[in-house]
Amino acid sequence: MKLLHKIDYIPRKGEAMAVFLCEESAKNPLARELGWAEKIKETIDLKYFRGKSNETIFIPMTDGTCVLLCGLGSEKKITGETIRNASSGAVSIFREKGIKTAGIRILEAGDITQKDAALLAVEGLYLSNYVFDRYKAKLKEGNSMPLDRAVIISDSDLSDELNTISIISENTNLCRDIINETSDNCNSETMSALAKKISKTAGISCTIYGRKEIERMKMGLLLAVNRGSKRDPQLAVMKYSGNPGSGKSIAIIGKGITFDSGGMNLKPSGHIENMRSDMSGAAAVIYTLKSAAELKLKKNVYGIIPLTDNMISNDSYRPGDIFRSYSGKTVEIGNTDAEGRLILADALSFTEEKLKPDIMIDIATLTGACIIALGETVAGYLTGDEGLAGLLEAASAESGDRVWRLPIVDEYEENMKSDIADINNVSSEKNAGTIMGAIFLKNFVKSSRWAHIDIAGTSWYSKPRGYRPKNATGFGVRLLTAAIKNWNEKD
Ligand code: BES
Ligand code: MN
Ligand code: ZN
Repeated sequence: MKLLHKIDYIPRKGEAMAVFLCEESAKNPLARELGWAEKIKETIDLKYFRGKSNETIFIPMTDGTCVLLCGLGSEKKITGETIRNASSGAVSIFREKGIKTAGIRILEAGDITQKDAALLAVEGLYLSNYVFDRYKAKLKEGNSMPLDRAVIISDSDLSDELNTISIISENTNLCRDIINETSDNCNSETMSALAKKISKTAGISCTIYGRKEIERMKMGLLLAVNRGSKRDPQLAVMKYSGNPGSGKSIAIIGKGITFDSGGMNLKPSGHIENMRSDMSGAAAVIYTLKSAAELKLKKNVYGIIPLTDNMISNDSYRPGDIFRSYSGKTVEIGNTDAEGRLILADALSFTEEKLKPDIMIDIATLTGACIIALGETVAGYLTGDEGLAGLLEAASAESGDRVWRLPIVDEYEENMKSDIADINNVSSEKNAGTIMGAIFLKNFVKSSRWAHIDIAGTSWYSKPRGYRPKNATGFGVRLLTAAIKNWNEKD
């Protein structure tokens, strides 16, 4: 989508103008300045349009142009998400009608300034204009046709901010692409190659460790999960040095299971179909590093991505097996479907020991229990570090990638005990699955500041919601980019 910024814009034939109005301005349009919408003032009776959120009225005019009225709800309740979602309502109507060029004008948005409102609307446009159609032989008219050109109307100069928004949104969409991509075409080797390729163009350094190096480093848990695979495991380590003068760095670690069959504890029908998305954490890490580099953030950022699928073969690892982790601790396999925590455990200890970052944040589609607890709209996060909790909460509020903190309950630690090894990879009790996953990981972090984000629910949508489409959502790119941007190296 090409984005233009203008102070004013008159749609031509076949083009449309979307006007976002809150309830208050819909009620009293004459008393409030309507700007361009002179046309609306003269020709449209607003009495049937209330300005409720999600309310839209599409009006084709006799001169071939169109007007779309989009409600924002009561001005007291307008948030960033209201405006991003109003944009997605507009985009879905434009797509349905086959409109390719549209202007966007926001009249009033409560406490949000005109400038911020315009930027939020643009973000919503980019993110809802997404389609994954590379496997469709023939593109359907209607829903799958994206908008070609958007004109954002605003008095203030937005060029720097628009550049920032387009970088982050485009990277979120690219992140969605690789998650939606088939497991056949997005496997450990293609993903590490992608990390390398992106690094090269974005000025990031990138080291790929293959089977030999992973064996030499004794990453016994990553190797265990990989045993059933036809392909080699990979570990990609990216480093963006945005502040070379500083010794401080933040590391983000993403679960890269390119397909999770469950292994010997095979997933049943109904649970296996979308497991190509089990690399969503890894995808978010790759595109967060790309965003940080393109935005030239003045921070040093590591991206660590352990990659393999979790498959079945004669060589697959089994329940009852014991493996020695990179850290030296031995792990009894209680369930081969709890594979994410295994590859992350090795990645976390490697990161702490070799890269010595000041902060580690891992992001993973780790537990079905997180979907039960928080649904698809909110990700769970766990940390013992109040500063990190604050960083994530603020990044969440800014980006719209919602998170909710769950406790790390020390008492539950004993449920992870093993009779024969140092720790079991699953809990002896069925409850609190998300917390148990975090407790397992905590055993592989010695003393670093660390947070774990469980995106099992938020990374993949069973239906579209606002500006997030069905299937891959790209959750995490905007959250982590905001967290890195806001991180103050001094605290
Ligand atoms: N990748 C799954 C978690 C998941 C489930 C992500 C549904 C997205 C949607 C993970 O590897 C897994 O299988 N977890 C198990 C853990 C259990 C064996 C302790 C689960 O949640 O059932
Ligand atoms: Mn699994
Ligand atoms: Zn998994």
